[in-house]
Amino acid sequence: MVPACLDCHEGHGEAMTATSCAECHAGHDVARTVHTAAMPDSYCAACHADVAETLRASRSLHMGVKCVLCHQQEHAAPPKGCDHCHRGTHPQHVMQSPDRCRDCHRTAHAIERGRAE
Ligand code: HEC
Ligand code: HEC
Ligand code: HEC
Ligand code: HEC
Ligand code: HEC
Ligand code: HEC
Repeated sequence: MVPACLDCHEGHGEAMTATSCAECHAGHDVARTVHTAAMPDSYCAACHADVAETLRASRSLHMGVKCVLCHQQEHAAPPKGCDHCHRGTHPQHVMQSPDRCRDCHRTAHAIERGRAE
């Protein structure tokens, strides 16, 4: 029988069950961390509590978007761009300038309404 991960290691927090380990530490390459779209935010929040709090405090609709929908597959990989989910929201010349989204909407974790004040 293969010994359980928790026989030798500590997990990262109470949100994670013994069977969760393999959801990120897949295969024999233990240094590689991947995750799937089914993963709850609480797994990420075990280490990124600050980000989870920023998102919650922002009261933006991104609160309802799971971490792993923007941060897909490989841990710490570049996040999906805004246009992965938002298309045609603004005229084409604006949508073609992804660098400009943050001029008006700040950051993904603390979305500002286009006209806050
Ligand atoms: C028999 C004991 C044992 C078991 C069972 C075990 N490990 Fe390890 N693991 C070790 C040892 C020893 C090391 C290397 C020394 C260290 O960094 O603690 C290690 C290292 C690691 C590392 C760090 C790798 C790195 O390069 O930093 C991860 C991640 C890891 N194990 C995950 C797991 C997972 C997930 C499981 C269950 C599928 C598991 N381990 C099962 C003993 C074990
Ligand atoms: C949500 C994804 C995720 C899950 C689930 C997860 N881990 Fe990890 N784990 C990571 C990441 C990311 C790192 C690298 C953190 C770093 O670089 O400090 C890591 C690092 C490790 C390490 C090596 C560094 C250390 O803390 O000693 C061990 C051992 C480990 N995890 C064990 C486990 C065990 C046991 C479980 C199941 C209870 C588990 N992990 C579940 C993402 C996860
Ligand atoms: C075991 C702890 C651990 C877990 C679990 C974990 N992370 Fe991380 N994460 C780290 C560490 C350590 C770093 C590298 C240091 C840093 O930049 O904060 C990192 C880096 C990142 C980065 C890149 C930061 C940068 O500056 O570019 C992203 C994005 C990220 N994690 C997202 C996630 C998501 C999404 C999840 C859940 C699926 C998750 N992490 C789960 C520990 C963890
Ligand atoms: C709507 C998409 C989206 C969601 C949801 C999201 N992120 Fe991010 N995240 C990003 C983008 C884009 C960046 C790049 C920096 C920026 O624009 O703010 C980023 C940056 C990061 C970073 C590195 C920089 C930093 O702020 O520390 C970490 C770590 C991270 N995200 C973790 C998470 C975790 C954990 C969650 C869930 C609690 C989450 N993200 C939810 C899009 C998202
Ligand atoms: C993984 C999908 C996803 C990504 C990537 C994403 N969003 Fe969103 N965003 C949503 C969802 C879902 C909503 C809720 C409203 C809706 O259904 O359009 C939303 C809502 C918004 C809103 C409405 C205002 C509010 O209260 O939150 C703005 C503005 C917004 N997003 C901007 C951005 C920007 C800028 C980026 C890139 C940094 C981005 N989004 C990336 C899914 C996403
Ligand atoms: C010049 C400022 C400006 C720029 C640049 C900008 N937006 Fe907006 N955006 C607004 C305003 C104003 C609104 C309407 C008020 C609101 O809901 O925030 C808005 C609304 C939105 C909404 C919500 C639409 C809805 O149905 O409620 C989304 C999503 C969005 N923008 C995404 C983006 C993305 C993605 C980018 C980058 C490609 C971007 N915006 C660039 C000003 C801007």
